[in-house]
Amino acid sequence: MELQGKKVLITGGTRGIGRCIVEELIGRGVSHLAIIARDKSRLKGLQEEYPDVKILKIAGDVADIDVLREAAARIEDKWGQLDILINNAGIISAGPLEELPDEELYDQVAVNFTAVLLLTKYCIPLLKSSGDGHILNISSGLGLLGMPFYAVYGSTKAAIGHFSDCMRRELAPDNVHITCSFPTATDTDMMQKFEDRKMDAPAYVAKRSLDALLNKELQVVFGGQEREDHVALNFNDRKKFDVIVAENYEARRASSAGHKAL
Ligand SMILES: NC(=O)c1ccc[n+]([C@@H]2O[C@H](COP(=O)([O-])OP(=O)(O)OC[C@H]3O[C@@H](n4cnc5c(N)ncnc54)[C@H](OP(=O)(O)O)[C@@H]3O)[C@@H](O)[C@H]2O)c1
Repeated sequence: MELQGKKVLITGGTRGIGRCIVEELIGRGVSHLAIIARDKSRLKGLQEEYPDVKILKIAGDVADIDVLREAAARIEDKWGQLDILINNAGIISAGPLEELPDEELYDQVAVNFTAVLLLTKYCIPLLKSSGDGHILNISSGLGLLGMPFYAVYGSTKAAIGHFSDCMRRELAPDNVHITCSFPTATDTDMMQKFEDRKMDAPAYVAKRSLDALLNKELQVVFGGQEREDHVALNFNDRKKFDVIVAENYEARRASSAGHKAL
């Protein structure tokens, strides 16, 4: 797919993976972008950095239904259609479920899942108008493998994988294609409070995810052969995978402690 002339909406395009996706899109010729994020100054800064790109700056929280409705209404008004929707914004709060504050449980569901359902819903008529619509959903490796201390985050991300399959099948007759990306640990603000292993670069995750969307791949799974082996084992022999996870139980608890980006 040629990106020049395409109209793109992305949530969370101001930092991390989303910011790298924006840079990649602009580098490949996109000049009409709508971006939803809470921090107004970052949206403004992005426009200053790319004065030739028309950026519809939608400052707000994706957990606010009015922000999502406004985004779709403004796009309809300005562009009349949408070619690519990228559901990227996400938050995390890890830890044992019994200790997770209720608000952080609700917020993760609202931002990581409910907002994706609603924004996709509002954008469907615009994507149909494109005639060649695409959706890229950013899930997580924690949505493929259920890990202790990430029950809420992981469940929202698993839901994104499932939602992607449902909608790809539902929208196939309308020529709207859906790709789901499952990054592993990636070096962004979200991982500032996570102390563990080496991470992927956000620019790499952005480029590979975008390539998957352009090639109409159904999914892209990061984390190499070990991740693929674990996903297969988790599907075929959950008890065996339970044993592997249990081996590092305390280390997992320690590395998830304080892992928050809200
Ligand atoms: N980093 C990783 O290791 C990793 C691994 C797997 C999957 N992922 C997923 O990849 C996606 C991007 O993560 P990231 O690491 O790039 O995150 P990040 O660096 O924390 O950036 C998050 C982006 O989303 C926006 N955002 C967050 N909450 C929002 C809200 N309530 N309303 C509107 N915008 C919001 C932020 O802007 P504002 O703060 O201005 O709103 C920012 O632009 C997420 O869905 C995440 O779950 C990340």
